[in-house]
Amino acid sequence: MLIGQLTDIHIGFDRKADPELNLLRLRQALGRIAAAPQRPDLMLLTGDLTEFGDAESFATLRATLAPLGVPCWPIPGNHDQRDTLIAAFPAAGMHDGFVQYAIEAEGLCILMLDTFEPGRHGGAFCGARARWLSEQLAARPTTPTLIAMHHPPFASGIAWMDPDLDEAWLDRFAGAIAGHAQIVGITTGHVHRAATTRWRGHTVTICPSTAAAVALDFAPMDPARPDDRVIITDEPPGFALHHWDGTQLTSHLLITSEANPLARWNEGTRAMIAGMFTERS
Ligand SMILES: [Fe+2]
Ligand SMILES: [Fe+2]
Repeated sequence: MLIGQLTDIHIGFDRKADPELNLLRLRQALGRIAAAPQRPDLMLLTGDLTEFGDAESFATLRATLAPLGVPCWPIPGNHDQRDTLIAAFPAAGMHDGFVQYAIEAEGLCILMLDTFEPGRHGGAFCGARARWLSEQLAARPTTPTLIAMHHPPFASGIAWMDPDLDEAWLDRFAGAIAGHAQIVGITTGHVHRAATTRWRGHTVTICPSTAAAVALDFAPMDPARPDDRVIITDEPPGFALHHWDGTQLTSHLLITSEANPLARWNEGTRAMIAGMFTERS
């Protein structure tokens, strides 16, 4: 099973442009997905799907995704709104007023989490959401489980995007997943660039954004003293393809450069590829 992931699409950011840049960037990613040899079986949309959470932007998103012909499962980011998200994607589930739900396919459970708190840039995960997560994990103790959420629970090193590590929601989330060996991965968005780490014993991946990228700069920041550093760049749109083979989840993080072929599997490369197979036995 192939699980696609799009994140941080930010439709509506420059809505006066026609067409707007973030829509063009989304189409670029979708074009790459559509041209790949294998089509994803489903798509995860991990938040900041719109810039302002308005119904028009969600409708644009839905219409742009429709030709792909793949079920799309959204969760909110800090730029979205729950009611307009659910109105555009009514198949997404809600629990206790949060957009949290489980997807089950091919022996894998995907738990979609809601880390949105209106008015806040960073993440949140309250007791009600943590209880739901604990219950879901307890109900399927041996089912391999992928968790998807907008906000990464760790510090990427990019100061203006990172949580304070003493924020209470981080420990609350960590407590809910502690001891659950069935978790095969945690995938997120929000940081607008690809990264991966090991956090509290789990592999956490940040999927790159389709919207403009956050510049990779690890220098500390004094919020009162702008230093003219680059903070946003026009790196190409990115997305993720998570390959699930029944026992292992492998996350491929892609950018949408042209991907022109440099080598093919033909008579010229036959011996090289064959050698890779024979050394295994
Ligand atoms: Fe974002
Ligand atoms: Fe975000």
